[in-house]
Amino acid sequence: MKILQLGLALALTTGIAAILVYIVGLSTSHERFRVSSEDLGALSSLQTGFKKCVNANGLGLQATGGRDYCQVRIQFPSDTVPKWRDPKSGKLEELSFDFDLCEAVATWEQVRNSTTILTKEFIDALPNGWEEYAWRRINKGIHLNRCENKTLCMEKLALVLPETPPFVPRQFGRCAVIGNSGDLLKTNFGEEIDGFDAVVRENGAPIQNYTKYVGRKSTFRLLNRGSAKALDKVAELDDTGKEVLIVKTTIHDIMNHMIREVPIRNPVYLMLGASFGSAAKGTGLKALEFALSICDTVDMYGFTVDPGYKEWTRYFSESRQGHTPLHGRAYYQMMECLGLIKIHSPMRADFSRVVEWLPSRSTLNAARIASEKLLRRVSGGKEGPRSSCSIIKKRDNGKVTDIVGLRDAAMNHQKYVKGATMYPLERSAGHGSLCMVPDI
Ligand SMILES: *[C@@H]1O[C@H](CO)[C@@H](O)[C@H](O)[C@H]1NC(C)=O
Ligand SMILES: *[C@@H]1O[C@H](CO)[C@@H](O)[C@H](O)[C@H]1NC(C)=O
Ligand SMILES: *[C@@H]1O[C@H](CO)[C@@H](O)[C@H](O)[C@H]1NC(C)=O
Repeated sequence: MKILQLGLALALTTGIAAILVYIVGLSTSHERFRVSSEDLGALSSLQTGFKKCVNANGLGLQATGGRDYCQVRIQFPSDTVPKWRDPKSGKLEELSFDFDLCEAVATWEQVRNSTTILTKEFIDALPNGWEEYAWRRINKGIHLNRCENKTLCMEKLALVLPETPPFVPRQFGRCAVIGNSGDLLKTNFGEEIDGFDAVVRENGAPIQNYTKYVGRKSTFRLLNRGSAKALDKVAELDDTGKEVLIVKTTIHDIMNHMIREVPIRNPVYLMLGASFGSAAKGTGLKALEFALSICDTVDMYGFTVDPGYKEWTRYFSESRQGHTPLHGRAYYQMMECLGLIKIHSPMRADFSRVVEWLPSRSTLNAARIASEKLLRRVSGGKEGPRSSCSIIKKRDNGKVTDIVGLRDAAMNHQKYVKGATMYPLERSAGHGSLCMVPDI
């Protein structure tokens, strides 16, 4: 394994001769992960275009390549003054960040075809789903002893656990994800935001009194632990009772109590997320992940740190610490230059701004396939709609996701996957999916 990785590193940096060594090294046992020269060409052209894209759209950010075609470094202008300190180490945030493009294209493309809502059919189908997984999604699950009493666990999750996914990929056309940055007050984005098909907000972000800046429409709201424990306050922010609340952590007895007693009319679900490593833990990224799993396109407002930023602020309250604003900003720029999102901010307020040097669909696709092989993803080197499935289970008849009345794009996707639902398997080697299918 070590030797193969070394071969890979060499191949990526020193060209064809080394590629041959690598191919020979791999072909015996792992034929299908073989990386061809076309694959390397695709990665090289993604990286070249990516650097141009960051330099053209990043408002001073500069991208450089690293030691191979996967590595890129995004650098802030040297006069940027970092303000955020790591509370543990006391260190100021750095001005340059390394990212792995291969990891990013492979993982984010998979998100686009997966469901990000936790369901009962997923827990039932997952090997040891109740013993190994479900009890971790219940606050104080430790007392449940791996759901030894399954009835009790099911009772605790019942209010937030649909049988099958309530949403499917591409169900919505154009979506907007709204962060909480104080920068929102510098531009009147409200009307523009209300023009989207679905709007995703975060935590306790108010709408009333700020509609000029943040719009009125609110379809989904992503909640961290703190906000979820104040579910009644969050539900008050939406007077329609229709906003769908999605909790990214665990279900809590307090939440169950509020859903029953207050009573909260809004649907509440738990999020099932892909794992991106340390780069992507915040609510903002989870909101983007959720939106990308159900929308055709995703536009982002209220996240950005534009050049000359003074500190991380919120539009509705005193400035809070926030976390890693520069790292987040660099990561979002990477996402924009991979064609996943479009960033709007006071310094890029023109709605019809064109993101220059975006990689084409075919470059992205070729780079994704190459990355899947390099990273030895379950889907690597395989074709077809179920290529990322490492577990395939037949769904009970009668528990079919209702697809009547979906948009064309969503219908076409359902036809492509033949009615399957892909659930990301967190922390699994090869990032496989658990796939629930109507037939085997
Ligand atoms: C399991 O939990 C249910 C629901 O709370 C309870 O009625 C039942 O007595 C429990 N069973 C055992 C064996 O503790
Ligand atoms: C909106 O402003 C009014 C008047 O200042 C205030 O009473 C109300 O609490 C505000 N609403 C929100 C959600 O901040
Ligand atoms: C996702 O689904 C689309 C069809 O809607 C398909 O073209 C694409 O290859 C799929 N991507 C992955 C990573 O499976």
